Amino acid sequence: MANTNLANAKTAKNDEFYTQYADIQKEINAYLEYNPDVFRDKTVLLPCDDPEWSNFTKFFAQNFQLFGLKKLISTSYAPESKKYKMPYQPTLFETSQPHYNLDKSKTHGKIFELERDITGDGRINIDDLEWKYLEGDGDFRSKEVTKLRDEADIIITNPPFSLFREFLAWMMNANKRFLIIGNMNAITYKEVFPPIQNNLMWLGATGFVTDMVFGVPEGTVVKESDKAKAERLGYIGNYTRLGNSCWFTNIDHGRRHQPIKLMTAAENYKHSRHKDIKAHKEYKQYDNCNAIEVPYTDAIPSDYEGVMGVPISFLDKYCPEQFDIVGITKTWYGFANKIYPDQIQVSKDGKQSKVSKLNDGATIKLSDVPEGDTYYIVNDELFTQVYARVLICKKQ
Ligand SMILES: C[S@@+](CC[C@H](N)C(=O)[O-])C[C@H]1O[C@@H](n2cnc3c(N)ncnc32)[C@H](O)[C@@H]1O
Repeated sequence: MANTNLANAKTAKNDEFYTQYADIQKEINAYLEYNPDVFRDKTVLLPCDDPEWSNFTKFFAQNFQLFGLKKLISTSYAPESKKYKMPYQPTLFETSQPHYNLDKSKTHGKIFELERDITGDGRINIDDLEWKYLEGDGDFRSKEVTKLRDEADIIITNPPFSLFREFLAWMMNANKRFLIIGNMNAITYKEVFPPIQNNLMWLGATGFVTDMVFGVPEGTVVKESDKAKAERLGYIGNYTRLGNSCWFTNIDHGRRHQPIKLMTAAENYKHSRHKDIKAHKEYKQYDNCNAIEVPYTDAIPSDYEGVMGVPISFLDKYCPEQFDIVGITKTWYGFANKIYPDQIQVSKDGKQSKVSKLNDGATIKLSDVPEGDTYYIVNDELFTQVYARVLICKKQ
């Protein structure tokens, strides 16, 4: 069991990262500020949770009446189905119930529902949560959890990192409102970028430069630097910090309607805080698409009418009233951003072949290929993909 855990930790397949209450509260407040009725009369589903101690369930159960929710449902995944094996200890909350079952407790998921006042204290809150075992293990792809998805208006969770694409498709196929946590690198995936480009999904209100701290199970291998960072943020013990986490959503919030304050190209050449912009007094053109390279979001020239390639982190500040997203420099999209001059032949997945031919028939040795770079072939030409850039232009 220990070896499996170690292997999972090494291959970053551990999905057990638990979201902190303050991060949930900060994010949800932004939606409420924009629309105080965003949750009114809505059924909210929190899948892939551990309702007995998940902060998502706690937060929404505590605020059930304040938000005007119609129904709250959370589901958990069976301990024996989890990749990361931990010594299993059911909570007192579970064992004290007459329907507690030791076997089911390990192999079945649970469903928690909150809809009515069962304690008779005149309020609907966390004390009124009712639970039972699911028929299966609580896999979000199962028929029973999919049925709960269909019943829900809004889906909110931090889904398993290893199944992020599948989880996103699961929600989007059902046309649901959602708010989920993911990794900012996911933006460049071919399953993730198209809905962002088409304004069917955007980043949440908490900027992704903000460090997010997650609880981890006892014994998880955490990098010392991440542990120390979590400690500096006040989380001492089994916590880690993931600097590149962000929220993905299709629920509106005010931050995405605030245009970025920008200077013209001429002003950038004079006043930019970035030396390379000031020194060169130009924005470079890409080799394979008619666009300029803008390496910093705050250096976007406000008066440029054409297409601009900007860092992925631009999306954190993206205001759809200010810019259109026209593409991304990824090979799957059809754009890389730099042609390698010598046309070295490599396989499609970027692996270099041993010795290959140049277009004019000459050969080049593998030792001539700069180390560590990956090359891609797009339309029979060879490209390097230095950094993925989002291609944008001024709102037409
Ligand atoms: C990143 S954790 C987040 C937990 C909780 N939502 C939170 O934010 O505190 C993801 C959870 O999904 C569970 N999980 C993994 N695969 C799953 C699946 N196929 N279906 C449902 N849950 C799954 C993991 O065991 C883990 O508890």
